[in-house]
Amino acid sequence: MASSISAVIVMWVVAMAAAAAASSQTWIEGEALRRSTWWRSYNTTTGHCNWPGISCNAGGSVTEIWAVPTQENGLLTQFNFSSFPNLVRLNFSSLGLNGDIPHQIGTLTKLTHLDLSHNFLSGELPLSLTNLTKLVELNLGYNHISGQIPSEIGNLRNLVGLVLDCNYLNGVIPSSLGQLTRLTSLYIGWNQMEGSIPPEIWSLKSLVDIYFDHNILTGVIPSSVGNLTNLTSLHLASNQITGSIPSEIGSLKKLVDLALDNNKLVGVIPKELGNCHSLRYLSMKFNRLNGSIPSEIGGLVALRKLDLSVNNISGTIPLQFQNFNSLEYLDLSYNYLEGYVPFELHLPSLFRAFEHNKGLCGDTKFGIPPCRKRNRITIIIIVVICLCSALLISSIIFGVLLIWRRKTRKLQPEEATTTQNGDIFSIWDYDGKIAYEDIIEATEDFDIKYCIGTGGYGSVYRAKLTNGKEVALKKLHTLESQNPTYMKSFTNEVRVLSKIRHRNIVKLYGFCLHKRCMFLVYEYMERGSLHCVLSDEIEALEFDWIKRVNVVKSIANALSYMHNDCIPPLLHRDISSGNILLDSEFRAVVSDFGTARLLDPDSSNQTLLAGTYGYVAPELAYTMVVTEKCDVYSFGVLTLEIMMGKHPRELVTILSTSSSQNIMLVDILDPRLAPHIDPEVIDNVVLIIRLALKCINLNPTSRPTMQHVCKEFETCTPFPIPFHAISLGQSKDQEV
Ligand SMILES: *[C@@H]1O[C@H](CO)[C@@H](O)[C@H](O)[C@H]1NC(C)=O
Ligand SMILES: *[C@@H]1O[C@H](CO)[C@@H](O)[C@H](O)[C@H]1NC(C)=O
Ligand SMILES: *[C@@H]1O[C@H](CO)[C@@H](O)[C@H](O)[C@H]1NC(C)=O
Ligand SMILES: *[C@@H]1O[C@H](CO)[C@@H](O)[C@H](O)[C@H]1NC(C)=O
Ligand SMILES: *[C@@H]1O[C@H](CO)[C@@H](O)[C@H](O)[C@H]1NC(C)=O
Ligand SMILES: *[C@@H]1O[C@H](CO)[C@@H](O)[C@H](O)[C@H]1NC(C)=O
Ligand SMILES: *[C@@H]1O[C@H](CO)[C@@H](O)[C@H](O)[C@H]1NC(C)=O
Ligand SMILES: *[C@@H]1O[C@H](CO)[C@@H](O)[C@H](O)[C@H]1NC(C)=O
Repeated sequence: MASSISAVIVMWVVAMAAAAAASSQTWIEGEALRRSTWWRSYNTTTGHCNWPGISCNAGGSVTEIWAVPTQENGLLTQFNFSSFPNLVRLNFSSLGLNGDIPHQIGTLTKLTHLDLSHNFLSGELPLSLTNLTKLVELNLGYNHISGQIPSEIGNLRNLVGLVLDCNYLNGVIPSSLGQLTRLTSLYIGWNQMEGSIPPEIWSLKSLVDIYFDHNILTGVIPSSVGNLTNLTSLHLASNQITGSIPSEIGSLKKLVDLALDNNKLVGVIPKELGNCHSLRYLSMKFNRLNGSIPSEIGGLVALRKLDLSVNNISGTIPLQFQNFNSLEYLDLSYNYLEGYVPFELHLPSLFRAFEHNKGLCGDTKFGIPPCRKRNRITIIIIVVICLCSALLISSIIFGVLLIWRRKTRKLQPEEATTTQNGDIFSIWDYDGKIAYEDIIEATEDFDIKYCIGTGGYGSVYRAKLTNGKEVALKKLHTLESQNPTYMKSFTNEVRVLSKIRHRNIVKLYGFCLHKRCMFLVYEYMERGSLHCVLSDEIEALEFDWIKRVNVVKSIANALSYMHNDCIPPLLHRDISSGNILLDSEFRAVVSDFGTARLLDPDSSNQTLLAGTYGYVAPELAYTMVVTEKCDVYSFGVLTLEIMMGKHPRELVTILSTSSSQNIMLVDILDPRLAPHIDPEVIDNVVLIIRLALKCINLNPTSRPTMQHVCKEFETCTPFPIPFHAISLGQSKDQEV
């Protein structure tokens, strides 16, 4: 009896002790939450398990934390990780978090899902992370994390998703990733990873998505890529990958998205790619692929995007391309293709799809000349097809092939020269034909009444062609056309603009370079220059914050394209509000490439001073060495001009030094629009000012690259201080 009573007492004591331990653990967790940034204002007496973003287990211990954004600035180090031994899921995505990832995160040994993405976290990956062996999903993407990926990451054997993209990680991709046999998603894109992709990656058969794009990876794509039969996305774009595309890629039957553009791939497009029937996006532009386009590509009927531009592809476009019925984007430009374009598609994007080839002909709406014997060709095709069917029925297959070959060889394009008098007059890339005569007629031989502006060396005319289209013409004054400097600037513009294409770079439709007729033909931009729009009181009001944000982003995109996607990189050297043009919808294009130059990696890039006063990077005055950071500086000044409504002038000097500490951000914004900022762009306006201040840094190496600027726009996160309380000093100190 006594012993059973004492047994009950012992049990009671044990139970009470356990309960006390549990409640003290509960108390610790509640305190830790209340001390962190996000639940500071919550009342401790109502159990923290009921607070938003918190889940607990039956014992009242926190298992899930999903922080909600607050107005306050967040530091991950304020959060006491050691207090939550039972935490399973932690989501601190998009909170504007700063600072390093604390190594105490390694104490959360039960963690299965960790998401710290879309913050401003910096420093290196703490090694203790690799102790979290229960992790299934680890997302640290879109931060400022630097350093290497530790090879101990191979300890995380349960990982299914590993996301590290958009950081500043460097070093090689660790081969230990090959131990993560459950991995389905592997994102390491937009970092600075180098070396070749370790062979172990190609044996991770469970992989579904591989994103390694925008790094500096070298090496080849091995044939073992064909082992990853569950792969749906393979993104290796914008690296330095060499070798040819292995035919084994055809084993990837589930492939939907293949991006290999902007590498150094050579050889032919493997015909086996035609086996990837689910393929929807195929991009291989900017490589050195040669040979002809395999007809099997025409069997990829699910294709929505096909970009083979800027390669060395020759031969004709396979007739099977007629089978595409979901195609939304096609670009075959800048190759050596010839013959008939077998399409009857009605897609706006086809507009520039065929330019700069050896000799394509077909429907003029594609910007190519008509095939001279179009009707005869059609008849020949029909005859050939009938013949083929008839012969097929009689099973004389060998004969069919011979006839087919012989007949198709007759599909020659018209000797359609878009040039007149050799290279002097050339029109390309236009949906309809413009002839020299059209232009003379439309402007009544450059009558003053069509003149819309006059510059130092010439005048700009507006011409309405007989087909109703409007174009702008820049004509060199007769006297100036004797001057070799102006002549050089004109030919330079033709040379540069005929090589590049971008939505935000002015389109050059053609040119005439002859002593007596020296003019360039451009797309017509209704609103003229950004400078004019900002100086006009009515247009400046119409040019609201949303439009200004878009214009800044467009210019950034165009410059990033020129600096990073053009080979060799292209510097504009004269970015100013006079050289940005706007159309009726406020679409912006960068124009005036007279001083632009290709950055030749083998030359010293010494130069004479070019550019517009007030936009020229200060270092050019003493170094005379142009780098892309000079354009970045001009972009910074231009951006401030757009946001302030006028050129910042001497304020630039103040803003680029620390004396701007006490100027409030709202006070520099264009007063004509200022207080009424559309709420949806407030964060963008703040980000743009912050980036502009970085761009005008006196030290060129401290300025961001245009690629970085664009990346920041993509990931724009709210600034942690209320808008009206932000000073320029604060916005500059805050890491962008
Ligand atoms: C916390 O909640 C309790 C009960 O709801 C209430 O009596 C108390 O005043 C609250 N304390 C604070 C600081 O709001
Ligand atoms: C964090 O929590 C642990 C465990 O509850 C505690 O021992 C430690 O003192 C706390 N650290 C801080 C800085 O509050
Ligand atoms: C974390 O939260 C964000 C939004 O707050 C959400 O998009 C994301 O999917 C969450 N991550 C995880 C791993 O659940
Ligand atoms: C990982 O966990 C082990 C065992 O708990 C511990 O000894 C070690 O210090 C931890 N490593 C790191 C880097 O935190
Ligand atoms: C491939 O995907 C299928 C369907 O999702 C799955 O059943 C299979 O296990 C996967 N294969 C590998 C090797 O992971
Ligand atoms: C992967 O592919 C290569 C070459 O195609 C082949 O030799 C190898 O056996 C495959 N490896 C595995 C693990 O299947
Ligand atoms: C393709 O280029 C390679 C060199 O990169 C060359 O050896 C090969 O002959 C070319 N093939 C064709 C079809 O032009
Ligand atoms: C591409 O082809 C052209 C003409 O066929 C040739 O002159 C050029 O050298 C080739 N370029 C490369 C990189 O193979």
